[in-house]
Amino acid sequence: MSSLPFMKQYVSKPKTVGAVLPSSKYLADRIIKYINFDYACYIVEYGPGTGVFTDRMLRERKQDTIILLFECNAEFYKILKQKYKDEQNFYIVNDSAEHIGKYLATYGIPYVDYIVSGLPFASLPRDVSSSILAQTRKYLKEGGRFITFQYTLTMKSFIGQFFNEIGIEREVRNFPPAYVFCCSEAFALAPSILQKQWVDKK
Ligand SMILES: C[S@@+](CC[C@H](N)C(=O)[O-])C[C@H]1O[C@@H](n2cnc3c(N)ncnc32)[C@H](O)[C@@H]1O
Repeated sequence: MSSLPFMKQYVSKPKTVGAVLPSSKYLADRIIKYINFDYACYIVEYGPGTGVFTDRMLRERKQDTIILLFECNAEFYKILKQKYKDEQNFYIVNDSAEHIGKYLATYGIPYVDYIVSGLPFASLPRDVSSSILAQTRKYLKEGGRFITFQYTLTMKSFIGQFFNEIGIEREVRNFPPAYVFCCSEAFALAPSILQKQWVDKK
């Protein structure tokens, strides 16, 4: 897909879009590898943009795994609705991730195994980020993972207020280079995909 729609949205809404270009396939690989698709029943994605991570999750998921996307940008929402119009067990809402609780109830999703996020926490209002992260903790299943990326490490301690284990990796094959944060609470109970050396204990 062309990067032009993404660039246009960045120009009109820089703080919520937070990036000039969609993420690279290399960054998508790094995010997706933290998901155990054999085990995942419910996956949520915040801020899919044009669907770089979504494409990968749809390719890898089991047929009956439910995926729910939150995209607050109306243009991206339109693109996503058209692109994924034939998908089953797949929902897209044009609303803020802050309202996750309401939509989990609407779609009968009892808990979430993995939440993948492209949200630009560094440029979102602090209260919006806090609300999203608190609810992320609330709805993630025990042993679940919150997987996000950021362009700098400045938000690490902020995100660390909500998760006591954060594994960090860098992906340079992205513009700009990015850090992937794999966040969890009950690390000992999580399926063991994380390598010990990536774990950065607070
Ligand atoms: C940095 S872009 C990431 C897009 C895509 N995941 C990627 O990596 O190419 C951030 C995305 O988050 C969306 N976004 C920002 N705030 C949001 C919110 N509160 N709820 C849902 N989506 C939001 C933006 O509209 C945009 O699509």
